[in-house]
Amino acid sequence: KIIDGILIVNKSYPLPKDYVPTNTYKNAAGLNYCTTCIDKEAYEKYKEMKADATALGLNIWIQSGYRSYSLQESLYNKYVNRDGKVAADTYSARPGHSEHQTGYALDIVDKNYTSKDTFTTSEAFNWMKDNAYKFGFILRYQEEKESVTGTNFESWHYRYVGTKVAKYIYENNITFDEYY
Ligand code: DAL
Ligand code: ZN
Repeated sequence: KIIDGILIVNKSYPLPKDYVPTNTYKNAAGLNYCTTCIDKEAYEKYKEMKADATALGLNIWIQSGYRSYSLQESLYNKYVNRDGKVAADTYSARPGHSEHQTGYALDIVDKNYTSKDTFTTSEAFNWMKDNAYKFGFILRYQEEKESVTGTNFESWHYRYVGTKVAKYIYENNITFDEYY
């Protein structure tokens, strides 16, 4: 679903199975060559954020960027087999429902991402949660907002929405779902 030119993907609004982001870096054959197929603008802004992080001594990287429908499907099925559907639905999007398929979602971590808890108390997360909006990224699945997003808190998952919208969402302490 597109609202104000922004693509919304969540539990209610899926993407078509064959949806692939188009504003990505391409090779001479016209194929996506960016390994992650991340949206071009989002990737440029990510690089700016990474440069600022580096200047502060923080080495962040993209753990997961673009994921196709079929990759999300295999991930989701793996989690269902391991933990059951009810549990899997609290932390994994169903195929077609993942923001990673949009090319606008990035899981950004650093060396502390050995477990979810160590990353959540890391300096890198502490810096990103208050600075990512300056680069147009929002922390998509916030703590204490699980009843709104329907997804567990994820300290690594950022969604690119552009600087104007990101600033509004950050300053008003709302989720993307509340925003639209
Ligand atoms: N972990 C997030 C919700 C996803 O699977 O897209
Ligand atoms: Zn993610």
